[in-house]
Amino acid sequence: MKALVWHGKQDIRCDTVTDPEIEDPRDAIIKVTSCAICGSDLHLFHNFIPAMLPGDIMGHEMMGEVMEVGSGVNGRLKKGDRIVVPFTIICGECDQCKRGNFSVCERTNRKKDLADKVFGHSTAGLFGYTHLTGGYPGGQAEYLRVPFADRTHIKVPSHLTDEQVLFLGDILPTGWQAAAQCDIEETDTVAVWGCGPVGQMTIRSAILLGARQVVAIDRLPERLSMAEAAGAITINFEKESVIGRLEDLTDGKGPEKCIDSVGLESHVSFGQPDTLLDRAKQMMMLESDRPHVLREMIYVCRPAGIVSIPGVYGGLVDKFPMGIAMNKGLTFRMGQTHVNRWTDDLLRRIEEGEIDPSFVITHTARLEDGPHMYNVFRDKQDGCVKVVLKP
Ligand SMILES: NC(=O)c1ccc[n+]([C@@H]2O[C@H](COP(=O)([O-])OP(=O)(O)OC[C@H]3O[C@@H](n4cnc5c(N)ncnc54)[C@H](O)[C@@H]3O)[C@@H](O)[C@H]2O)c1
Ligand SMILES: [Zn+2]
Ligand SMILES: [Zn+2]
Repeated sequence: MKALVWHGKQDIRCDTVTDPEIEDPRDAIIKVTSCAICGSDLHLFHNFIPAMLPGDIMGHEMMGEVMEVGSGVNGRLKKGDRIVVPFTIICGECDQCKRGNFSVCERTNRKKDLADKVFGHSTAGLFGYTHLTGGYPGGQAEYLRVPFADRTHIKVPSHLTDEQVLFLGDILPTGWQAAAQCDIEETDTVAVWGCGPVGQMTIRSAILLGARQVVAIDRLPERLSMAEAAGAITINFEKESVIGRLEDLTDGKGPEKCIDSVGLESHVSFGQPDTLLDRAKQMMMLESDRPHVLREMIYVCRPAGIVSIPGVYGGLVDKFPMGIAMNKGLTFRMGQTHVNRWTDDLLRRIEEGEIDPSFVITHTARLEDGPHMYNVFRDKQDGCVKVVLKP
């Protein structure tokens, strides 16, 4: 089959690789009908998250048709079913899965020993996302093996299009969780850094969850316009002071809730000197991640507020203002998304027409065009916000 394969830094190719097969009774094989490129894939593309190996298949946002199931799937899935695959592989039975903490499932990371050593404790297996999270082949491919498939799926009805449901596997529940874990109240100002696909889902979720005002921060006009269309107030961080404007919008008190939908690759600009220092330190391997957004959030957040971090961090950050965070009494919530915790509710909202996440798609291409589309998405060429690939 054809698949997008990681060969090294900024080197992804569409290769012919061996078709996946059932390896365990709980496996299923799906024919991928649609898959997407995620901001997290860019971190791997740039090799900022360690433990990718040449030959690894990329992709963790995908859906398709079940072709084959193992004997242990126990009737929960059958050939012909249409499913979205959550990016977190879940067993459904361990202590964490029972609590709905799916992204830290205790059983699905098949490289548990490595993860135990690096993280202290293993987290869930993830598709197409480094050997720290199991080294599982991803879904930017014609076919995908879904381990623990009896639990690791979201069944979707045939009357909804791929575009309407594909993002249930990642960015939609990610934006939703980012907002939900802010415990939004109707008097709250919610500030969202980053208007990429995750930021767009976060902004709409915060509005649906009843925030008084949602403020969206980015520098790309097309992404800011998309946020404005959802009802957000926008700040272009290249044109105005983020902190000054957020203070103005909150009578000098700061937003109660601050959400980082940017992650470890914060934009480097002369207007924000710490980002230059971060870039230099990253190049000298003195820190792995660029935490400008974290610093800005901690500084501007209202005392006793909540800082929510869906943006991915991979390693170590420097000059993290712990003293400010501690003295202001901030609460931090973060993590890879517990996808299946949210998807029944979100699928219902899509079916009822309350949410249609397909608005974010600006580019659709063939799988073979995937390597080029990584560049288009990374460089935001041609107004690119979200790429869907059709294997
Ligand atoms: N927690 C999870 O489970 C989960 C799931 C999916 C994605 N993510 C992460 O979410 C993040 C965003 O993903 P995406 O797909 O939207 O990526 P993206 O790269 O398309 O979007 C990032 C956006 O942040 C903006 N940005 C950069 N620096 C900024 C700054 N200083 N202030 C404000 N905005 C800034 C960029 O212009 C861009 O629009 C990534 O880190 C990704 O890994 C996490
Ligand atoms: Zn993702
Ligand atoms: Zn589990």
